[in-house]
Amino acid sequence: MGSTALLTVVLAGVLLWIPTIHADNHGAKNDEKHLCICENDKGTCKNETCRGGVCFYTWVQGREERGCFSESIREQCSGSFEGFFVHCCRGHKCNAFVTPPPNNSGEPTTTPPEPPRSELWIAVSLLLLLTTVSVCLVLFLRYRHATCRLRDPEDHDAAMVKVPSGDEPTYGEIFDEFCTSGSGTGLPYLVQRTMARQISLVACVGKGRYGEVWRGTWMGESVAVKIFSSRDEQSWFRETEIYNTVQLRHDNILGFIASDMTSKNSSTQLWLVTHFHELGSLYDFLQYSSLEPESCLKMCLSVACGLVHLHTEIVSSQEKPAIAHRDLKSRNILVKRNGQCCIADLGLAVIHSQSHDYLDVGNNPRVGTKRYMAPEVLDENIRVDVFESYKQTDIWALGLVFWEITRRTIVNGIAEEYRPPFFDLVPSDPSFEEMKKVVCVDQQRPSLHNRLHSHPILSAIVKIMKECWYQNPTARLTALRVKKTLSKLDLDSDYSIEKLKRDI
Ligand code: ADE
Repeated sequence: MGSTALLTVVLAGVLLWIPTIHADNHGAKNDEKHLCICENDKGTCKNETCRGGVCFYTWVQGREERGCFSESIREQCSGSFEGFFVHCCRGHKCNAFVTPPPNNSGEPTTTPPEPPRSELWIAVSLLLLLTTVSVCLVLFLRYRHATCRLRDPEDHDAAMVKVPSGDEPTYGEIFDEFCTSGSGTGLPYLVQRTMARQISLVACVGKGRYGEVWRGTWMGESVAVKIFSSRDEQSWFRETEIYNTVQLRHDNILGFIASDMTSKNSSTQLWLVTHFHELGSLYDFLQYSSLEPESCLKMCLSVACGLVHLHTEIVSSQEKPAIAHRDLKSRNILVKRNGQCCIADLGLAVIHSQSHDYLDVGNNPRVGTKRYMAPEVLDENIRVDVFESYKQTDIWALGLVFWEITRRTIVNGIAEEYRPPFFDLVPSDPSFEEMKKVVCVDQQRPSLHNRLHSHPILSAIVKIMKECWYQNPTARLTALRVKKTLSKLDLDSDYSIEKLKRDI
């Protein structure tokens, strides 16, 4: 990717930040000398004017903004690159008629007031400083880019990386440029913000209590935008925190791109931007698709791999705490084009590190989905101060997800209709008490069709499910054990296919 393009996104982040500083601070009183023209699409202007120490005009890849900010950050004024232009002035509505220069790299087309000589020197020095920093940044990123590729060659979803045109970066490439080691997490905050604000929403693909999910486009690529309902803002904070502080890039965890919070007409909009998977959730997929046993195995194994990655603490340089999901279900799993799945929605997750000795359960008032709640959650006997307890509830839910997948798997020419777990025992949207009666008091488990026992893969998955559903949470399998058992089946089925081919 062209480093200029990356620089474009970074600097756009810095420039787009300027109006926020103003909006956030509303300027110190002694700063509010000048009445400036205020124009932006974020709804932060009042009567199209604002007051501040400096009036500004920015032009970022065709998007114009006018506003004001405090004297103390006027150094943000210097800068004009290909694709950007920023101009500041002092005086009554002095930013009213500024427009970008024809080649957007020179002086503005209106003549700003002549700056005093000392300020000219400061401006020139700052421009020189900015140029030097930019050159160093480009060289540094090139170096990092090379080392990152060596370190982690499979780190992005190849299906998502396509170059729409010329020198534009894909988000996979932007991640690669910033491919951060050590604390390596999301993109810098300002870059996330800039990317999020360049997204066009195309179609709503999901709606629920949580809010909405949209397909959007960014630089010609599809992205998913989850817009959180205001009552679920704690889930946005938690998911944003986790994606930005934990190294979570994994084939079977939904890929994060950006988080953004905007304020419009005094209401807050919370966005989470992720990879888009056109097959939608596992729940949607199972409504209209049936599977061969090998595809069923591949799906189950991929979910188990995602869960192992979440549950495992890593203590090497690519450090990662252990995470328990707490709301695993088919609606929170997405189906990828390669037949694997990835786990989404970390809004309720708990984080644990043995090496750093902490358990962070967050402060989300939300609870998991009742239908998928483990017996110890329903009878409120779960040990909330022990991290292992949360992993054990994920395993219960994992067994239920496997059950949903196996119902749709064709054995002896038969697949069952899609049904949610306990469909025959509780009504839709069951209450806590209804679930507790079935799962804790009567100790019922989902029923398993006879056909599953006549296929080696399916009968092995049935055995796993049963071991995920022990009443005693400590007796359940671990995610790693589930993964290992399924991996072995995968090898065996590859082996038998190869053997079959040879025999033929
Ligand atoms: N529904 C929820 N999240 C989605 C995503 N990332 N891609 C496609 N559909 C989704």
